[in-house]
Amino acid sequence: MAAPGSEWWRTAVIYQIYPRSFADASGDGIGDLPGITSRLDDLKSLGIDAIWLSPFMTSPQKDAGYDVADYRDVDPLFGTLADFDVMLNEAHARGIRVIVDLVPNHSSDQHVWFQEALKAAPGSPERARYVFRDGRGENGELPPNNWESVFGGGMWERVTEPDGTPGQWYLHIFDATQPDFDWTNEEVREEFRSILRFWLDRGVDGFRVDVAHGMMKEAGLPDYAPVADADSMGGGEENVPYWGQDEVHDIYRDWNRVLAEYDGDRALCGEAWLPTLKKTALWVRPDEMHQTFNFPYLMTPWDAQELRLVIRESLDAFGAVGAPSTWVLSNHDVIRHASRLALTADSPQGDGIGPNSQGKPDPAIGLSRGRAATTVMLSLPGSAYVYQGEELGLPEAMEIPDEFRQDPTWFRTNGERYGRDGCRVPLPWTAEGPAFGFNDTGASWLPQPAEWAHFARDTEERQPDSTLNLYKKLLSERAARRLGSGSLVWDDVADSAVAFRRGELHVVANLGAEPIELGDDVTFVVQSEPFTGTALPPNTAAWFTRG
Ligand code: GLC
Repeated sequence: MAAPGSEWWRTAVIYQIYPRSFADASGDGIGDLPGITSRLDDLKSLGIDAIWLSPFMTSPQKDAGYDVADYRDVDPLFGTLADFDVMLNEAHARGIRVIVDLVPNHSSDQHVWFQEALKAAPGSPERARYVFRDGRGENGELPPNNWESVFGGGMWERVTEPDGTPGQWYLHIFDATQPDFDWTNEEVREEFRSILRFWLDRGVDGFRVDVAHGMMKEAGLPDYAPVADADSMGGGEENVPYWGQDEVHDIYRDWNRVLAEYDGDRALCGEAWLPTLKKTALWVRPDEMHQTFNFPYLMTPWDAQELRLVIRESLDAFGAVGAPSTWVLSNHDVIRHASRLALTADSPQGDGIGPNSQGKPDPAIGLSRGRAATTVMLSLPGSAYVYQGEELGLPEAMEIPDEFRQDPTWFRTNGERYGRDGCRVPLPWTAEGPAFGFNDTGASWLPQPAEWAHFARDTEERQPDSTLNLYKKLLSERAARRLGSGSLVWDDVADSAVAFRRGELHVVANLGAEPIELGDDVTFVVQSEPFTGTALPPNTAAWFTRG
């Protein structure tokens, strides 16, 4: 593990574990912390530097753990605090850093503070920890404003007062079981400083900060009419009164100081969906967060010009504030990139793809593009995020029957949007055996597609050209060549290519329909999939040297 003071996060490859779908030691069909511990050697052999765990804290699981009822304990579904400590120590013993997910925008409605708020009177200090308001209309029967939840439906829920009368409303950007905290309240701020210290004291290396762009709302909570193509998570161009408000930056400056109380270099990584890279870079000014996800990069379609542009803009925007760019193609909220990059119809973020969706991808094209996209990503300077299962080339699970769906998006839109279950299906570890080796009982909280036997880790280990072996090769060459640091020089190879050099290493991806001749002096270091000769086929990328 890099020494303290190394700012390891500037170049790290960070592997996202979605605990409920990674490995299930207890056999109840939901992954857990002992499952993660049992698979750390597999992660070590993959060649990643750190893991980020999606939430495993106490939660009624209305939004798969992003609804936290106790920020200082482990949900029994995932194990115990002792299991966490074992996992952390075992990861550190292997030189793997550990980042945990912090969910500060909202809690679960089962959180003791929210329960107290429900019992307390309007205007009480208990209510002031959340965003309670009187309703509009003659008897307060209308919500306080017109905001719409990211998961569909309105953003307000009316409560029944302790005396049984219809009462105030509370704000929830996400599900009604996820009330938003009021971050103008110093008590909330102090509580989260203490939560940060709780996990830092246990030895975590940092936090991925959930909804880092949503914590402050515009004063007065004004009505807002979303423009037609607005992205529900804040991807549009206009000012949205609950996304990206300037006041959030004070909170991160405060947290930066909390992390600096600790030895070593602990990191904050923000989940901030913002309209431009320039705005995103404000989250990582020197006294704020250390990293923020590069969602504009993730959202870039399979188009050479757009990909060149977003890489250029990323390096410029983050470089201007002295932060590393990050790169990410998949996570637990988006369609897996081995499917997304070959969709033939629009699919807004969060809609997912299911049995009746239009524009389903051709699986072979999707996988080729996915592998090529990763081959580009892992050559770029900065830090990269890899989402569990992408190293197997997993596609989105697109045929999940309705009765298995769990994402609140599905329920809040009455099935109009499938939501995110398709990227959350438990991993296949072995081609044979119950639940493809996810556990030894065969239980699985979402059904695994039968064809996933072909993507099982043990099968891919044995196939030299598998996606798993591609990722291993990319990661070991990236480390050996220190590609995480330094800069890149653009090459002009073809309109349909993304081409640049990292020192002596050339990187070219073909996003067009015709092969691209690379010249006969090339020596390949990595091909995103095997080809002979020196012409780069469509949907392929390569690393090579010349001469
Ligand atoms: C973030 C999480 C997502 C969750 C939401 C509400 O966007 O990544 O999974 O549903 O926040 O917490």
